[in-house]
Amino acid sequence: MPESLKSFINISDLTEKQLYDLFDIADSMQEILDKKEPCDICKGKILATLFYEPSTRTRLSFECAMLRLGGKVLGFSDASGSSVSKGESLADTIRTVAGYSDVITLRHPHEGSARVATLYSHVPIINAGDGGHQHPTQCLLDLYTILKKKNTFAGLNVMISGDLKFGRTTHSLAIALGRLGANLYFASPPGLEMPDYIIHQLESDLHVQPIIFHDLREHIGIADVVYMTRVQRERLGEMEYLKYRGSYVLGNETLHETKSDAIILHPLPRVGEIKPEVDADPRAIYFEQAYNGVPVRMALIATLLGVI
Ligand code: CP
Repeated sequence: MPESLKSFINISDLTEKQLYDLFDIADSMQEILDKKEPCDICKGKILATLFYEPSTRTRLSFECAMLRLGGKVLGFSDASGSSVSKGESLADTIRTVAGYSDVITLRHPHEGSARVATLYSHVPIINAGDGGHQHPTQCLLDLYTILKKKNTFAGLNVMISGDLKFGRTTHSLAIALGRLGANLYFASPPGLEMPDYIIHQLESDLHVQPIIFHDLREHIGIADVVYMTRVQRERLGEMEYLKYRGSYVLGNETLHETKSDAIILHPLPRVGEIKPEVDADPRAIYFEQAYNGVPVRMALIATLLGVI
């Protein structure tokens, strides 16, 4: 069982041991899923999903995870249908929903919102994405997927591509992989580079020197993991979005340049960065990656609730 974990806001909240413990629990959750038998690990517990921003995978896989654990779910997928539309503060919403649930999953457009929520909650808070900052549970399933395919992180060449400025999944993943000994390659259009605070953390705290470049194909031939992301339209002006849209596209032509045993990941949704023709390639495992959100989030929920 992982050491005590109160909330999960940032991937750096977890020690390396806690991370591997969670992956072991996720493996056992997968065994439960494979059996297709009722499970009562979280019987009597309620997960709240408060999503102030759109989501398919994160919200539904959290809900699926809790239902598979035998618990129940409540929440909103559109804050406009809640009292947020009347002007209720995040603090008051959290205070209220903490009384209705045992664990809260929060997606919010403001960076730092999940950390703020912990100040007003007596139940665990899970950060399901705070603005362009972090997406730590996506990071967990990204790492889990890499580990299942590659058995290690140390020495892997991981190329993280796309909108690295606003792509919160890339921030969490870069820090985690830096800690775990991977070699990092950051490919982005000029203007959408990885934020300075992430580079600083990698270089100064973790003594990792990422390779930074702009041509997607420059280093794709040595990548063991190619992690594609979309341009974050919701965090850019429309003109800027149109400027960057379609700047990085992975099709079969580029795929030919990758290693035969590379894996292609994407947190999804994709909006043109990976052509559908790539889907049939065995290296393209982004839907398996999205599925892994279920056992990983089951492990996280059970751990935070102290029921495993
Ligand atoms: N990867 C991810 O966060 O997807 P959703 O926005 O659909 O939740």
